[in-house]
Amino acid sequence: MTNESDDKGISRKGFLTLAWLKRQPPIKERDDLPKTTFKTTVALDELTRLETGAVMKIDNVSGIYAVRILEGIIFVSNICPYDGAAITWNPKDRSEDLLAKTGRFYCQRCSTIYDRTGEVKVGPAESMLNKMSFLPANDQVMITDRVVGESMSETGIFLITE
Ligand code: FES
Repeated sequence: MTNESDDKGISRKGFLTLAWLKRQPPIKERDDLPKTTFKTTVALDELTRLETGAVMKIDNVSGIYAVRILEGIIFVSNICPYDGAAITWNPKDRSEDLLAKTGRFYCQRCSTIYDRTGEVKVGPAESMLNKMSFLPANDQVMITDRVVGESMSETGIFLITE
């Protein structure tokens, strides 16, 4: 005795599921899903050791810095949101914020100065550096390629309680 799925090699439900999946655009092109590819990860204990005002380059590839603010950590991209210029962190320059005495971001292409949280202090750039979204995962924090602000529910701050 055979059933329907043996005869045709696949059940009607399985066939319909496959047909539906084949009609879906690739995940990259779907705008109903949040983009969650990961740019980099950082160990949780490295983050919790940072003191207020500290700025830590996470790696040499992602262009992301972990910045300790009062409430916790934000992840600031050093890539210019307009043209992709790499903005440098100058730890010895005068600070533009109240979190520490020294350190600010500087764009060598257009001379824009940003404070450690990515806010523009001296133009010509008009908008702040991107803060990146993250997902905590056990003893690590995974930083995504999504910019904070795409979802209303996220603050972009990895909270650290003293
Ligand atoms: S070129 Fe974009 S901030 Fe300078």
